[in-house]
Amino acid sequence: MSNKTFHIQTFGCAMNEHDSETIAGLLSEMGYESTEQKKEASVAIINTCSVRDNADKRFFGTLGQLKKIKEMNPDFTVCVCGCMMQQQHVIDTVKQKYPWVDIIFGTHNIHQFPKLLESVLGEKQKMVDVWDDGGDIVEGLPVKRQFAHKALVNIMFGCNNFCTYCIVPYTRGRERSRHSEEILAEVRELVRDGVQEITLLGQNVNSYQGDVDFAGLIRKLNEVEGLERIRFMTSHPKDISEELIRAYQDCHKLCNHIHLPVQAGSNRVLERMNRKYTREHYLDLIRKFRETRPDIAITTDIIVGFPGETEEDFQDTLSLVREVEYDSAFTFLYSVRKGTPAEKYEDQVPEDIKHERFNRLVDLMNELSLKKNKALEGQVASVLVEGTSKTKEDTLTGRTEGFKTVNFKGPKDIIGTIVPVRITEGKTFNLEGIFIEK
Ligand code: 5AD
Ligand code: SF4
Repeated sequence: MSNKTFHIQTFGCAMNEHDSETIAGLLSEMGYESTEQKKEASVAIINTCSVRDNADKRFFGTLGQLKKIKEMNPDFTVCVCGCMMQQQHVIDTVKQKYPWVDIIFGTHNIHQFPKLLESVLGEKQKMVDVWDDGGDIVEGLPVKRQFAHKALVNIMFGCNNFCTYCIVPYTRGRERSRHSEEILAEVRELVRDGVQEITLLGQNVNSYQGDVDFAGLIRKLNEVEGLERIRFMTSHPKDISEELIRAYQDCHKLCNHIHLPVQAGSNRVLERMNRKYTREHYLDLIRKFRETRPDIAITTDIIVGFPGETEEDFQDTLSLVREVEYDSAFTFLYSVRKGTPAEKYEDQVPEDIKHERFNRLVDLMNELSLKKNKALEGQVASVLVEGTSKTKEDTLTGRTEGFKTVNFKGPKDIIGTIVPVRITEGKTFNLEGIFIEK
């Protein structure tokens, strides 16, 4: 085993996953190889998430474990980056309580990581380099993709929305969009490299504004020869345009799925969250999406127990979930984030009530997911085959356009292609199917 090996552990969202792919790309260019085993690596990187408290806790737990490796091997270099490092109180804690950390960098200066690493290795000293602001977008960074046939593509960085619960505007800075030609060039290159599906990334892709708007970008990407599927995340309901809905009509590569975080079903709570839309507006959007694509899969994010949420407000969330009939949802317990407006709200909901509501919401969501998935039984879905199942070697796994995981038996040479699969069983969290040979 060469002594130039790295291990990256990533917490959080697709944006962080993609940043880790860039870090892996940069390290590969420096001659490093990746390893699955932390203790075998010469460089360990932890890419952190600050969106909720449980990710913070897991990060500090992981840092604690690295101490032992560092004691056995003083040349082991420990690097931490990502959203948590954009907060001064976190940097202070790391410096005081985890002195075995060698490099701290942030979300805005990933491109400088090779320089930081070289100087830390050369001078045997520690380094903290975190930028407050993103500045210009750095193009052309190398990326080592996790998957051969699907890729994440940043179209914009940052967020201007300041939802009152959310830390992201403080850790990722203000909105900055890439030029569409840069995005198109990247996507064409990915397609040449075998990519069939792209997921466009941004904290709020609907407010993308390069030389064209978001719908314009989708229309351009829909023309890229060889590209089969376009997805995007995440969307903000207040910025969904009529043009985007029309793009769903015209652009056949746009997958039959929209992830549209609602966060809450009560107008009072939505207002306190600073979401800038109402329940009625949201439901109207859902109606328009369904008019355009009747069988579109709809998923969402919901926060339970936001400060001041009453039982009546929570009932509004349950009734909205029933009305929309989501395919699935990410449900979160509200988590106080230091420095956000909601941290100061005095009417925090007691933990036991939050948990009790959370369980009721999850039960309802599971019931709806099962119903939606059962309705697909007998239908033929087009599935991008991603690989073999983690648990069963003889089973393939892939995703439908609606972002549902399907497990089925089939030959390994169809991995990386889009194939027809007949759905035989709809379960709560996935589908079973049979591969239809041509
Ligand atoms: N507490 C709980 N959930 C949160 N999210 C963002 N901030 C918080 C918080 N403080 C959720 C939102 C968002 C998703 C990515 O994380 O639902 O859409
Ligand atoms: Fe956070 Fe709101 Fe921005 Fe999403 S839109 S990243 S929830 S502030």
